[in-house]
Amino acid sequence: AVSALILGIESSCDETAVALVRADRTIVAQAVASQDAEHRPFGGVVPELAARAHVERLTPMVEAVLAQAGIKLADVDAIASTAGPGLIGGVMVGLVTAKALSFAANKPLLAINHLEGHALSPRLADSGLQFPYLLLLVSGGHCQLLAVDGVGRYRRLATTIDDAAGEAFDKVAKILGLGFPGGPAVERAAKTGNPFAYKLPRPLLNTDEPHFSFAGLKSAVLRAWAAAPDKSLPASADLAASFQAAVVDCLTDRTRLALAVMPEATALVVAGGVAANSAIRDALRSIAVGAGLPFVAPPLWLCTDNAAMIAWAGAERLALGLVDGLDAVARPRWPL
Ligand code: KG4
Ligand code: ZN
Repeated sequence: AVSALILGIESSCDETAVALVRADRTIVAQAVASQDAEHRPFGGVVPELAARAHVERLTPMVEAVLAQAGIKLADVDAIASTAGPGLIGGVMVGLVTAKALSFAANKPLLAINHLEGHALSPRLADSGLQFPYLLLLVSGGHCQLLAVDGVGRYRRLATTIDDAAGEAFDKVAKILGLGFPGGPAVERAAKTGNPFAYKLPRPLLNTDEPHFSFAGLKSAVLRAWAAAPDKSLPASADLAASFQAAVVDCLTDRTRLALAVMPEATALVVAGGVAANSAIRDALRSIAVGAGLPFVAPPLWLCTDNAAMIAWAGAERLALGLVDGLDAVARPRWPL
């Protein structure tokens, strides 16, 4: 038998994305439309603009992806959409579209938690990745360590008590005038900077408190930059590098602590947009090696928001019969 074909939709932040993924891990077709250009003048994502852009783009993108695969909606076995957490306008656009397609084609609906999409995405890229694994989920909205015991079985070992790591990258980019989106801009600047140039705090480092905190670090960057006599590019590169080094220290310290309380983990996995950062990847890889575990990081396109991960989470849930009704609700907040 041919494995199930899932249509996935993602619209919870500033990427409109559609994908067709098979349960055998074949990515049949996909498209991602970034809204960076719309939000750049504001230096951050504007929810109302995001929702409008999703409305305009989503339906044509569904048609384009089906056409790219040379199939009709009737050939799809189920429709998966992010149902939260995220910017509620965008989430509603995606979920309502998925409900309409599900109703029109008489195919099951899968209302997916965006975080579950990130959490299971490494299994789409790596067929050898088995449960349980330790996942560091680092994105613009989230910074968590999760014990992934199985589909729908997640234990949160740590979370941020204030900002997410990606949020800190974005705010620091704004402070330093490095542009939007912030994460890649800070990483680029950091490559030419001296990570020891500024002494910055590492909140909660070496404590038994299993949480993250980045607000104090961000404020320290703000103060350091305000006090800096020289605001040229080399100086901002030094501060970017010093900030990134502090983030790396905080993430690795907490990850080491989580591995210690999860001896059954079969791998250390990183996912979410911040996982695109190569300094963070390298540091996590060495922790995994030190613990004798494989290190799994999905390819970059799968780390940032996309619909293939939503379709894949849908495939994993469909295989277990975990389908949703047309009364599924869009949720701005939805802890895993
Ligand atoms: O997972 P994602 O695409 O969207 C959310 O669900 O949040 O993550 C986006 C976040 C943004 O904060 C962005 O600045 C950050 O990931 N990011 C990075 C890098 N690339 C993206 N942060 C650090 N270094 C990067 N190279
Ligand atoms: Zn995300």
